[in-house]
Amino acid sequence: MKSHCEESFRLLGQQGWQILENFFTEDECQLFYSELKALEKESRLKKARVGKKDSKELKPQVRLTQIYWINNLKPTDVQKVFLNKIFSLLEKLKKTTFIPLNTLETHYSIYPPGGFYDRHIDQFKGDTSRQISFILYLNPLWSNGDGGELVIYNEKNPQKTDAVVTPQWGRLVLFLSESIEHEVLPTRKRRYSLTGWMRRAEIQEDPLSIVR
Ligand code: OGA
Ligand code: NI
Repeated sequence: MKSHCEESFRLLGQQGWQILENFFTEDECQLFYSELKALEKESRLKKARVGKKDSKELKPQVRLTQIYWINNLKPTDVQKVFLNKIFSLLEKLKKTTFIPLNTLETHYSIYPPGGFYDRHIDQFKGDTSRQISFILYLNPLWSNGDGGELVIYNEKNPQKTDAVVTPQWGRLVLFLSESIEHEVLPTRKRRYSLTGWMRRAEIQEDPLSIVR
């Protein structure tokens, strides 16, 4: 089996997005899933907002999902497993893409039945810190008809759809935050994932912005 160090990121460069099916092991995915289920049970997830800092708004007509931010300064043991491995991916991508990546921003998310996220890009206006988006899907069973697919639009011609991705267990999707438009179609089942961004440092970075 190929080690992750030899993994090629040719597609990410060519088309702006790539899917890795076995980046995290089955056991690692089970750990993340158990932690997310526990957070859900304790009602620790909050309604997601749209926008940045002071301009953040609840917009259930655009984004209907619940999230839980991972605190990089106080990760649980389970979160450390995730952050360490995704950070090794960041370092690898930094070398292959030449993007000066340096920090992570990550949240768990649950889309309730009827949940969705309208077409968007992941960078905020006037803020290019988010460079590469990653989403790890944590749904043990997902069937045709359950909805909740991630639609990825073509980087050069956003009229065109490049892929309709089902949120299958263990699937990791990577894409360029700046240029890939995407959306989450309405889901019929509760839809679980771990989502985040590899960021590059900005000169006037607010050091608390990753803590939230
Ligand atoms: C996001 C997003 C996609 C997904 O959180 O910005 O687009 O498949 N998520 O959950
Ligand atoms: Ni997005």
